[in-house]
Amino acid sequence: MNQKKNVVFSFLGTNLDRGFDERRWEKWRPTVSLCQQEEFLVDRMELIYQENFATLVERVVGDVRQVSPETEVVERVVKIRDPWDFQEMYELLADLCRDYPFEPEKENYYAHMTTGTHVAQICLFLMVEARFLPGKLVQTGPPRGRVAQKYPGSGEVEVIDLDLSKYDRLATRFAKEQVEARDFLRSGIATKNVAFNQLIEELEVVALRSTAPVLLTGPTGAGKSQLARRVYELRESRTSMEGEFVEINCATLRGDTAMSTLFGHKKGAFTGAASDRPGVLRQAHKGILFLDEIGELGMDEQAMLLRALEEGTFMPVGSDVPVKSQFQLIAGTNRDLRMGDEFREDLFARINTWTFELPGLKDRREDIAPNLDYELEKFAEREGNAVTFNKEARERFLKFAEDAGTEWRGNFRDLNAAMVRMGTLAPQGRIRAEQVEKEMGRLTRSWERGGDDDGLGDLVEGEIDSFDRVQLAHVVKVCRESKSLSEAGRKLFAESRKKKANPNDSDRVRKFLGKFGLSFGEL
Ligand SMILES: Nc1ncnc2c1ncn2[C@@H]1O[C@H](COP(=O)(O)OP(=O)(O)O)[C@@H](O)[C@H]1O
Ligand SMILES: [Mg+2]
Repeated sequence: MNQKKNVVFSFLGTNLDRGFDERRWEKWRPTVSLCQQEEFLVDRMELIYQENFATLVERVVGDVRQVSPETEVVERVVKIRDPWDFQEMYELLADLCRDYPFEPEKENYYAHMTTGTHVAQICLFLMVEARFLPGKLVQTGPPRGRVAQKYPGSGEVEVIDLDLSKYDRLATRFAKEQVEARDFLRSGIATKNVAFNQLIEELEVVALRSTAPVLLTGPTGAGKSQLARRVYELRESRTSMEGEFVEINCATLRGDTAMSTLFGHKKGAFTGAASDRPGVLRQAHKGILFLDEIGELGMDEQAMLLRALEEGTFMPVGSDVPVKSQFQLIAGTNRDLRMGDEFREDLFARINTWTFELPGLKDRREDIAPNLDYELEKFAEREGNAVTFNKEARERFLKFAEDAGTEWRGNFRDLNAAMVRMGTLAPQGRIRAEQVEKEMGRLTRSWERGGDDDGLGDLVEGEIDSFDRVQLAHVVKVCRESKSLSEAGRKLFAESRKKKANPNDSDRVRKFLGKFGLSFGEL
């Protein structure tokens, strides 16, 4: 088989290829050096130059002939007004390529990138990239080190195939970075759950490319808060986000202070406002604001938040000067915001651009084992003592943990707590079947009592009817949100008290709690 010929398109380097006297042989001249390479034979050189450089071309052509008699040089004189004019240069090369009798079966084509104006180089690159010039790029460089002394003028050559090496390497690198980002969002845990991994893949793209609000939904303990923080950390490391991660749980925002915590206040706006306060929206400027349990936000706060998202401005309490803040919102919720009428539809629409639903642990059974190992590692890191399961204990615990009947109401929070308890109680850092049995009992009892979901937790001893449980849970919740028993009473009996001259609602609440052995104070 006949070897294919190498054909190089090269601009005459009016500076780099210059040199008329003997000393030019000690100088690196790209076009001449390209024809001096032992491993790279140039069969034909298409040498492009402007007409006023005829003398230099003559010298360069003569020298090429001398160093490489096999090379045929085709002189291509071009009329070009301004070699720095992009349009002119592009058209010149496009015309040249269109008219050129390329024969890729017989010849390999190269575009020499080292000479010519930067505009000429860019246009050559574009020709190759668009396949107008069906070839590769070739780059030459001055000689380095020892070789330089032996072949003073020859320099170095590198061939770049846009179809292969460079693009491939870039693509590989990109893919690697993507994998790293996903791994990071997964906290380095080798998760196997398909739904969760798909979620992470999408979130990775969104986290790096979008500043639109992100909504994370899912049951308590599914990892919403942790994921929000990870998104921030990923963003910060990749795109050097300037602002901070600011986190607030909307369920803790009550009454007058809610507005001021979120939007800030002016000094003297109300009693107790001793100085200006920026508020979390402003604090999150150029960063991420994580509003956890956003469903608990009051109506007024929702309206103000919507305005802040749409216009980028809001009013601090007691101020008539709007404040600007540019932040990305991540919202968390464990309830469906479309249910009931406590959440504004327009705000929901605004934050619903990117919604990610985190599955609970019982829908991620295949991830329990990897999480177990992760928890053990974390425990060891924190406590400075390695903890391991013995074989029997591990099998016993996994069987229980992966069982379809196991509730995992608090999800990762429960798994976490279970591991901490077992790790702490393990004699000599070894978790035995005995600890596992005890822990299984503890978990099951806590779920029977209602787990974390209704907020009753350890409050009530023994069994109570679900009839009472629901009512009690609500009363406990309202009490916790109120500063005093009478405030709780006013809220709980808001309707009936209107009709009474002497409302005794505090008393009614006290008595109700008393039935379950509870008091306002301990809540
Ligand atoms: N993917 C996960 N794997 C293991 N533990 C997790 C994971 N996500 C969260 N956790 C842990 O579970 C606990 C609850 O997570 P969190 O993000 O607070 O849940 P949420 O905000 O959904 O209630 C935290 O201690 C957290 O470190
Ligand atoms: Mg949370």
